[in-house]
Amino acid sequence: MSAQSKVVLSDNDMPRQWYNIQADLPHPLPPPVGKDGKPIGPDALAPVFPMNLIEQEVSTQRWIDIPEEVIEKLLLWRPSPLYRAHQFEKALGTPAKIYYKNEGVSPAGSHKPNTAIPQAYYNREFGIQRLTTETGAGQWGCALAMACKLFGLICKVYMVRISFDQKPFRKMMMNVWGAECVASPSNLTQAGRAILAKTPDTPGSLAIAISEAIEDAVTSKNTRYSLGSVLNHVLMHQTVVGLEAQKQMKMMGEYPDVVIGCVGGGSNFAGISFPFVCDKIHGKNIKIVAVEPTACPTLTRGPFVYDSGDVAMMTPLLPMYSLGHGFVPQPIHAGGLRYHGMAPLVSHVLREGLIEAVAIPQLECYKSAVLWAHTEGFIPAPETSHAIAAAAREAKQAQEEGKERIILLNWSGHGLMDLTGYEAYMNGKLSDYQLPDNDLQASLKALEGLPVPPKL
Ligand SMILES: Cc1ncc(COP(=O)(O)O)c(C=O)c1O
Repeated sequence: MSAQSKVVLSDNDMPRQWYNIQADLPHPLPPPVGKDGKPIGPDALAPVFPMNLIEQEVSTQRWIDIPEEVIEKLLLWRPSPLYRAHQFEKALGTPAKIYYKNEGVSPAGSHKPNTAIPQAYYNREFGIQRLTTETGAGQWGCALAMACKLFGLICKVYMVRISFDQKPFRKMMMNVWGAECVASPSNLTQAGRAILAKTPDTPGSLAIAISEAIEDAVTSKNTRYSLGSVLNHVLMHQTVVGLEAQKQMKMMGEYPDVVIGCVGGGSNFAGISFPFVCDKIHGKNIKIVAVEPTACPTLTRGPFVYDSGDVAMMTPLLPMYSLGHGFVPQPIHAGGLRYHGMAPLVSHVLREGLIEAVAIPQLECYKSAVLWAHTEGFIPAPETSHAIAAAAREAKQAQEEGKERIILLNWSGHGLMDLTGYEAYMNGKLSDYQLPDNDLQASLKALEGLPVPPKL
């Protein structure tokens, strides 16, 4: 009999509660603050987010019930399957076992609908009729477009220009789900016009698109803003991934030695890893690795600071590793990993020593992604390829040490809408990019004069 290749759970096995890591942190997460360094209260966030989500943002309750209507919609594709990557292992010649949680099976193609669905639901419950957002690679824009349609909301997406140009089919998908999608920076907002006046040829950035989407939300009727990563409640919505994976690994008779996820804003990584970080806090010996691109090395080279989530500084200051809110990353193909900051909760657990971070150059990532497609069949998103490359490194180390190692990675999305990146790679048109230190130091100047977070 061949070794088991996947675990598929039934509808009843989907988690009915989200896990909130804030209940278990060794030290509490520092609060968001204003430019004066004073903590921001929930009321200050009310023009941007509905109060029911703000309550989740600040909650320290360990388990939060998932509403029945949200469960109904998540069951459209959840629970997602957990696979063992037998053929990839064989090609690597490793004694390691590599398991992956396939979040590419969602209608939009990634983990992003796990939070788009509850965010659309809570906004509708609060009486909101329209949501605005930004998108990098287009995965998040698609997820929110779909979720808004399912809950009867209007959706407007500001898409980072470089991705808008590289990925026209993502815009069309959003249109099919009834959303409007415009390239950012646009001339529809003050923030966009100001950037265009200074740098008309800018490729855009997530921080610019966020400024545009927030400005639209706070100046429009019955509208709120929705963010696809970074915030506490977004990361919490993603924990269904790790909670399912824990059940599935158990059914395989395994517990991981290493858990890996790529990081842009931190949500898919948090989704798979936070339930395991909880185990680690309670004594388990487990390595947990966040993987970022060398072109946008937030966790590996950025300082831990208070910084804004967007370029126009419309968000409160968040305690996070950051490259500076004005940072415009090189137009690498992993559009979803081109963000200057990192989720405060992911930043915090790194500071606590509960996780590790590594930066990998894009050619190594594409090489692993193509090997994956040749062996496992599925074509990964360029973002996901970072987690695969890190898993391959772990597997190689296991081989060198002659040890069996159990590796679990979050396969955050498929790359069927990202084929221009693969084409460029296969035609030898891509190169690696290390952020030069001068550019990093110049970008960090934007942090001067901002409050400093407390030491641990
Ligand atoms: C497939 C995929 N993986 C990962 C990411 C990174 O985002 P996050 O760090 O929030 O998971 C994105 C973002 O767009 C994505 O589309």
